[in-house]
Amino acid sequence: MLRKLTRTDQLIHQFDTVLRTLVPHAAQPSRPSPADDIRDEPLDDAARHHAAGLMRINHTGEVCAQALYQGQGMTARLADTRAQMEQAAQEEIDHLAWCDARLVELDSRTSYLNPLFYAASFGMGAVAGAVGDHVSLGFVNATEEQVGKHLEAHLGKLPRGDNRSRAVLEQMREDEAHHARWALEAGGTPFPAPVKFGMALMSRVMTKSVYRL
Ligand SMILES: [Fe+2]
Ligand SMILES: [Fe+2]
Repeated sequence: MLRKLTRTDQLIHQFDTVLRTLVPHAAQPSRPSPADDIRDEPLDDAARHHAAGLMRINHTGEVCAQALYQGQGMTARLADTRAQMEQAAQEEIDHLAWCDARLVELDSRTSYLNPLFYAASFGMGAVAGAVGDHVSLGFVNATEEQVGKHLEAHLGKLPRGDNRSRAVLEQMREDEAHHARWALEAGGTPFPAPVKFGMALMSRVMTKSVYRL
């Protein structure tokens, strides 16, 4: 028989999700990686190193997305949109796992700074959710747009021949565009340009640090 989740159940579930997000290789994707069946051309060390830096940034972006959705899930009402929010969060787990797997293939690792970015994004998500669902969904829209721009830029910067990373990023770009759209359609308030500019500056800090660390 189904029973209502208690506060303790919810806390355990949250903690489990934190671990799955932050412990390398712990995330379980629900869809196979788009890189499956795609072959790379040979990559030299410099190209592999550069690709790993880019994929590490994308992985941290997904850690932030996961934390954002979880923070909002704690505080937002989202009576009509919770199911869609959870669907989007599941797709972010796929992205997280695909980027993680690609980093392993590139002989690299996820960022040491992930716990820091997780905590910051969780806090921002929780605040946005507490302010109200329109702001919360607007925040999802602005974030997903930002991620989409990153992905677009990274697709241009990936080394020639890194076809497997490219396949992953192309599917992510499609999913993020979808997340950005539904958040607006579900009633999200479009964020004003100065707020988006502030978010872009913060993401610059993230990309600069995570490329190496
Ligand atoms: Fe994502
Ligand atoms: Fe997304």
